[in-house]
Amino acid sequence: MAVTIKSEREIRLMREAGKILGEIYDKIGEQIKPGMSTLEIDQIGEKMILEANCIPECKGYEGFPNAFCVSVNEAVVHGIPNKDFILKEGDIVTLDTVLSHEGYMADAARTFAVGEISEDDRALIDNTRAAFYEGLKHAVAGNHLFEISKAVQDYAEGCGYGVIRDLVGHGIGKDMHEDPEVPNFKPIGRGMKLRKGMTICIEPMIARGDYEIWVLDDEWTCVTRDGSRAAHHENTVLITDGEPEILTPGATA
Ligand code: MF3
Ligand code: CO
Repeated sequence: MAVTIKSEREIRLMREAGKILGEIYDKIGEQIKPGMSTLEIDQIGEKMILEANCIPECKGYEGFPNAFCVSVNEAVVHGIPNKDFILKEGDIVTLDTVLSHEGYMADAARTFAVGEISEDDRALIDNTRAAFYEGLKHAVAGNHLFEISKAVQDYAEGCGYGVIRDLVGHGIGKDMHEDPEVPNFKPIGRGMKLRKGMTICIEPMIARGDYEIWVLDDEWTCVTRDGSRAAHHENTVLITDGEPEILTPGATA
C-alpha cells in the first residue's frame, strides 16, 4: 500500500473521524475501574463507536474478534477482550482501536491506570505519552521520517525503557495500514521525506524492561518476554508545512 497524500476533503473526513475517537477515549477513561472485565470495556467502547455511526474496524480485521484491543500490564498490544479477565487495583490497561467514518480511518491508543497505580507505572504511562510528543515535534513536511523514530527512541531509552521493535506505526487513510512504516527506533538511513497531506500514526510501545516480545497462544496478545509492564500511546497525525495536527485530539491525546 503506497503513501497517499490527502485532499482537503479527505483531511476533513479524517478530522471528523479522529475527533469522534478522541472523545470516545476521554469518556472511556473516566469509566475504567477495578472489577471491570476487559470485555466490558470493549463493549462500552464499541457501543460508543456505533452510536457515533462509525464502524469498529478492528472487529473482523484478520479475524480479530472485538472492536478494541485491551492489553493489561505486560501485554503490549492486541489483547483480546475476555469476560473472565477482571481488572484489579494497580493494573495498567491499554486500549487500542480503529474506527472509520465515511470511509476514512482514525487510529489511537491510550494506556490507563486502574485505580491507584505504582509511581513506576505512572512514570511509564506519562513517559510513553511524552515520547509520542517528542516524536511529534519532528513530524513536519521536509523532515525525514526517521527523525521521528530517533526522537521517540532517544526519549524512551533515556528513561531507561525498552522500545518495542517488532511493531511499528504506519500511514493511514482509507486503509488502516498504509505506507510508510513508522518505527519507534531509528533504522539505518533517514527514511522518506515527509510531505504536507500525509497522515501517519505515531505510536510508541514502551516496556519498563527489555524490548523483546512474544505472542501468546491466542495468536494475538503480544507480551513482553521479561514480564515487565508496557504502555502504548498512539495518535493519528496530519503532516503540514508547520505544526503537525493531531487528528485524534482530546484530554487523553
Ligand atoms: N492499532 C492497531 C494496529 O494498527 C489496531 C489493530 S486492529 C486488530 O495494529 F484487529 F489488529 F487488532
Ligand atoms: Co496503529
